[in-house]
Amino acid sequence: MPEPGPPQLTVVPGEAPGTVAVVGLLGDSLAGLPLETRKLVAQARLVAGGQRHLAAWRRWLGDRSAQEVGAKAVPTLALEGDLEGAVQALAHRAVEDGQDVCVLASGDPGFFGITRTLLRVLDRQRLRIVPAPSAVAVAFARLGLPWDDAVVASAHGRPLADAVRAVRLARKAAVLTSPEHPPQAVGQALVEAGLSMDLVAVCSRLGCEDERVIELDLAQLAHGRFDPLSVVVLVGPGGLQSVGWGTGPAGAAGGSLERSRTLAWGLPESAFAHRGGMVTKSEVRSVVLGKLALPAAGVLWDLGAGSGSVAVEAALVSPGLTVFAVEQDPEAAARVAENATTMAAGVHVVVGAAPEALADLPDPDRVFVGGGGIPALDAALRRLRPGGRVVATFAALDRAAQAAERLGRMVEVTVSRARRLPDGGWRLAGANPVFVAWGPADDEDAPAAEPGPSAQP
Ligand SMILES: C[S@@+](CC[C@H](N)C(=O)[O-])C[C@H]1O[C@@H](n2cnc3c(N)ncnc32)[C@H](O)[C@@H]1O
Repeated sequence: MPEPGPPQLTVVPGEAPGTVAVVGLLGDSLAGLPLETRKLVAQARLVAGGQRHLAAWRRWLGDRSAQEVGAKAVPTLALEGDLEGAVQALAHRAVEDGQDVCVLASGDPGFFGITRTLLRVLDRQRLRIVPAPSAVAVAFARLGLPWDDAVVASAHGRPLADAVRAVRLARKAAVLTSPEHPPQAVGQALVEAGLSMDLVAVCSRLGCEDERVIELDLAQLAHGRFDPLSVVVLVGPGGLQSVGWGTGPAGAAGGSLERSRTLAWGLPESAFAHRGGMVTKSEVRSVVLGKLALPAAGVLWDLGAGSGSVAVEAALVSPGLTVFAVEQDPEAAARVAENATTMAAGVHVVVGAAPEALADLPDPDRVFVGGGGIPALDAALRRLRPGGRVVATFAALDRAAQAAERLGRMVEVTVSRARRLPDGGWRLAGANPVFVAWGPADDEDAPAAEPGPSAQP
């Protein structure tokens, strides 16, 4: 058998006649580009790009760094309006006429950029891509944050609702804005969606002389006016603590925060700010979290959150979950947020009453119904994702029975806490029983029916 030869390269990138150089810019200047990249721009017979990029190129022609590489005025092509037509025209120039073309773009052209459009009409071997750092990378760098765990959504020529959906499920996100969807429109959509954020920043005109990075809150984002050429950075509840943000230098205090965290559930009620006993008791919470069988990822709703103890513990036990705590009393909702912050748990607080407040939330994989009764339970069941589970607690037997009818399984949890007697002995102090219903029951798990009278011995 003949030995397999070395792999054959049919086209050497960039060496075929009619190369399309795609050059990313950080900001609006070509002067700082490396020598090799400037030569690439200078050798093009046609320069294409957005108006902003073409204006930057024209300014650059008067600069010494352009003269150094012999850059001269050549025809330009604006990549705006009929983008497909313009891209066809530049491809024709490179492929049919064999001319070198330069496409100027912002940041990394392969990241929400022109590369994808160019590939509709050109072989990738013809492209020679020279990226600059993406505006998203620069935005996170300016804020001193890592971003390998961030979700990036574009509001550039795409519906804002898609960006909101992506942000809602992320702990850390960046949204690319545009003239039709400037930063304030993103803010309005996020406020309407009832989201809460630990950090909001608008990073505008990055790399330009008039670059601006401001930190603000969601209301200020919604009501402000910002440059459309921006990246909006959003860090959701708990997202800052997870990188030690705001907890002291070199993660010192952050480290102690991590150490003070516990993976155990069923923390004492005193661990949560609460009022009027509106906190799920420690032992009942343990049972509830067990019955919730928390997945590693997905969406959890805590309805009638009270102190938010279930939402907080669920978020701590399963940090990959996107947790929404829905609470109608604004004061209690503020306590949920306070508890989540204190415990460094990622919880979105939604102020409103179920079922109305659920309309805009993503469908859940898990729901805890601690308040809102049977109507909240029914609303949860209507929206539950396949394979999902609802757990509900009740003090009243009649309502618990209605829940058991719907969910299929129920236990009664009676807790007696041991108390010291003055003589050093112990007594048990019984609390009111709590009914915990869960389901929907699948066939295997459903409780066996009691034997009927005819089956009795
Ligand atoms: C089509 S996307 C291009 C993204 C680009 N490929 C990148 O890697 O940064 C355009 C959006 O990127 C963001 N953007 C690009 N350049 C920027 C800059 N200098 N400052 C802030 N945002 C910028 C804006 O959100 C803009 O609307």
